[in-house]
Amino acid sequence: MERQADNNETITRFSVQERLAHNMVALCVLLQVASGMTMFLFNVTGINTDIARDADNTILNFHQMIFFILAFTAILIFVAGLAGVWRESLSVVLSWKRADFIWLTRMPLTAIMKEKELPPADKFNPGQKLWVIIACVWVTLQLASGFVLLINHDHIIALVIHAANAIMLLPMLLGHIYMAAFNSVSSPGLAVLFTGEVKRAWARDRYPLWVERIEEAAGDGKDQDRSRHRRP
Ligand code: HEM
Repeated sequence: MERQADNNETITRFSVQERLAHNMVALCVLLQVASGMTMFLFNVTGINTDIARDADNTILNFHQMIFFILAFTAILIFVAGLAGVWRESLSVVLSWKRADFIWLTRMPLTAIMKEKELPPADKFNPGQKLWVIIACVWVTLQLASGFVLLINHDHIIALVIHAANAIMLLPMLLGHIYMAAFNSVSSPGLAVLFTGEVKRAWARDRYPLWVERIEEAAGDGKDQDRSRHRRP
């Protein structure tokens, strides 16, 4: 009986703010990639009918509107960071130890050598930590080059950075979505984007240092209610 209750116990992996930030960025980036690619196709195919020009202009307006929403979201994320909202996640992402580099070098080997052990992960494994850094740099570069293009549509350096950056993100983004949706070793599945909750037993298995840390804090009476939900 007790065992069953323990299996259903969940802990909060992502706060409301973290979920909102992720989902806003994800939605904006997907819309930007889709509209950007469509404009690119218009340009390379050289279709020049009235309808095509109208469609191209409408998509450009849409692309610019999403730019402002993404820029506003990025500013909110930055301000929330200054206010300490992401302190826990940020300190994990920015702390790099020898074990993280061992994890990164052993990770590809686990595909062929199943017995290879990986060092235990904190809230994010080193692959995810790298992805957080890449995503932040990517969004900043894309917004900065997009801003220059808003002012001067023909700025060639900004255009090259904007297009090359977008193309470089695609394989990584597809990899991220694939891992998030299908790789149960590192991801709890897509529901976490809406509920923020994961099974404590799952988290203990995949992210033992994180669970150890929050359980220790709970033992010290420092844990917040957020990590102690128990489902009936
Ligand atoms: C439809 C698109 C997307 C889906 C389905 C998706 C899904 C997910 C999921 C399920 C997680 C949580 C994994 C965990 O528990 O650790 C996650 C985390 C994350 N996502 Fe996304 N994501 C998408 C798009 C994006 C985009 C566009 C970015 C940024 C450019 C992004 C950046 C991140 C980051 C930085 C994390 C935290 C690190 C990690 O857990 O991998 N995601 N995503």
